Amino acid sequence: MKDIIEELEQRRAVARLGGGQKRIDTQHKRGKLTARERIELLLDENSFEEFDMYVEHRCTDFGMEKTKIPGDGVVTGWGTINGRVVYIFAKDFTVFGGSLSATHAQKIIKIQDMALRNRAPIIGLFDAGGARIQEGVAALGGYGEVFLRNVLSSGVIPQISVIMGPCAGGDVYSPAMTDFIFMVKDSSYMFVTGPDVVKTVTNEVVTAEELGGAMTHTKKSSVADGAFENDVEAMSEVRRLVDFLPLNNRSKVPVRPFFDDPSRLDDSLDTLIPDNPNAPYDMKELIIKLADEGDFYEIQEEYAKNILTGFIRLEGATVGVVANQPMVLAGCLDIDSSRKAARFVRFCDAFEIPVLTLVDVPGFLPGTSQEYGGVIKHGAKLLFAYGEATVPKVTLITRKAYGGAYDVMASKHLRGDFNYAWPTAQIAVMGAKGATEIIHRADLGDAEKIAQHTADYEDRFANPFIAAERGFVDEVIQPSVSRKRICRAFASLRGKKLENPWKKHGNIPL
Ligand code: HXC
Repeated sequence: MKDIIEELEQRRAVARLGGGQKRIDTQHKRGKLTARERIELLLDENSFEEFDMYVEHRCTDFGMEKTKIPGDGVVTGWGTINGRVVYIFAKDFTVFGGSLSATHAQKIIKIQDMALRNRAPIIGLFDAGGARIQEGVAALGGYGEVFLRNVLSSGVIPQISVIMGPCAGGDVYSPAMTDFIFMVKDSSYMFVTGPDVVKTVTNEVVTAEELGGAMTHTKKSSVADGAFENDVEAMSEVRRLVDFLPLNNRSKVPVRPFFDDPSRLDDSLDTLIPDNPNAPYDMKELIIKLADEGDFYEIQEEYAKNILTGFIRLEGATVGVVANQPMVLAGCLDIDSSRKAARFVRFCDAFEIPVLTLVDVPGFLPGTSQEYGGVIKHGAKLLFAYGEATVPKVTLITRKAYGGAYDVMASKHLRGDFNYAWPTAQIAVMGAKGATEIIHRADLGDAEKIAQHTADYEDRFANPFIAAERGFVDEVIQPSVSRKRICRAFASLRGKKLENPWKKHGNIPL
C-alpha cells in the first residue's frame, strides 16, 4: 500500500511540473504565473479539485510518442469562489505551448459538460497557441466540440475567459463565444493569425502588441471587456465579477449583506445637472452614488465611452446598469455604443439580472461614417435588446431624451417597468435649436425671430411633464431621493413574470 501511495505522489509531482522547471522559469521571467498558480489565486483556498491529471496525448506523428507529459497542457477541475461552485480549465503554456490535442480537448469538454449539467459558471484561463500542429485534424475536431459546448452553454451558465498569454486560432475563437473576455496588459495577445502570417499574406508589418494586445482589444476591437495589470490582479478581479453573477439562468442573482441604507438621500445629486444644458457632467458619479457602497464593476470601460455598462448592487442584489455618458460625444448613441450596450442588456436578460438605465442622450450621432458603418442596424440591436428583455427594467431620465434614442433607452414603450425623470429632463423629438431651424425655416434669416422660436420651443418641450402627462414617465422625482426610489422600484419587481411569445429564437439585427 505504501508503495502505491508513493507512486501516486510521484505521479502527481511529475504532472504538477508540467513542461518542466526550465519552462516554468521562462513563464515566470515573462511575468506570467503557471496554470496551477493562477488557479490557486482564483479559487478559494484549498477548494480546487483536479480532474484528469494523468491524461496524455495519443499522437504518434512527428516523434510525439516520445514526448508525453501527464495533463497534456491543460489543468481542469472545479472549486469555489467565495463558497460558490465554479468549473475551471487553465491552459498550461509549459506543455506544447498549451496547444490543444484531441485528449486535451476531451479534458475541456468534460469540464464544460459538468458545468452545464450542474448549472455552474465556467472559467477558462488561456495561454495557448491554438490547435496542436502535430495532431492536425484531430485537434480541429477537438476545437469543434469545445465550440459547440460554448454555444450550448451560452445563456445557460456564465462563461468567462481570461487571456493570459499569447493566444491564437481556436484559443481566441472559443473565448469569443463566451460572455466576458479579460486580458492581462503586456503579456497577453489574441489573434486569429500572428504577425508572421500577417506579414506573409498582407505584407503588413505589425507587432504582436499592436495586432492583438490588451489595448487593441479593449479600445479598438472591443473583443475584450477589460484589461488588468498582471495575473494577480486579473484573478482577483474575476473573483469580484463572479460575485455579481448568478450561477445560471434559472438561479436568482446573488444577494450579499449590505451596509448602505437603501433610503440614503444624496443632496449633491440635486446639483449634478449643470445650468447650461450643453455642459457635460460625469454620469459615473450618479452610478456610484446610487450603488450600494459605491461599488461599480464596469464592463468595457475603455470602449465606446459615450455609454457606461456594468454591475452594481442595490440592497445587496445585482443590477446591471446602462447609462449614457454626457462627458463623451455628449452621450450620443452611435454604432459602437449601441453594440456595447446591446450585448450587455442581452447578457443581463439571459441571466435574469434586472437592468437600470440612466438616460441623457441627445440622439444618434449623425454623419456619413455612421450611416456607411450601418448605424441603422447597430442602433437597432440596442432597440431589439431592450424590447425583448423581460427582466425588471427601471429607467431614469436625468436630462436629454431626444428622438429615436428616447425610445431606445428602455422607454415605457419598450416595457420599462418604472420610468422616472428628474425635473431637469427634456423629452422631445430633438433639441430646441434643430427643431426651430426645421419648423421655422422661413425665419432663418431673422436671428431675433429664431431666438424667440427657440425659447418658445424650450418652454414648451424642455421638461419632463409632456411625457408625464401621457404616462410615458411614471413620476418626476427629486434627484436626491433617486437611490431610495430606484431601490423601492426594484424591490417591488422581485416577483415580475413576463414572457415573450413562443419562438425558436428572434432574429436580432446582427
Ligand atoms: C504545437 C506549439 C504550438 C502549437 C506553440 N507550440 N504553439 N506546439 N502546436 N500550435 C510550442 C512550441 O513548439 C514551443 O515548444 C512552445 O509551444 C512555446 O512556443 P514558442 O513559439 O517558443 O513561444 P512564443 O515565442 O511565446 O510564441 C507563442 C505563439 C507561437 C505566438 C503561440 O508559438 C505560435 O504562433 N504558435 C502557433 C500558433 C498557431 O498558428 N496555431 C494554430 C492555430 S489554428 P518548446 O518545446 O520549444 O517549448 C487553430 C485552428 C482552430 O487553432 C480553429 C479555429 C476556428
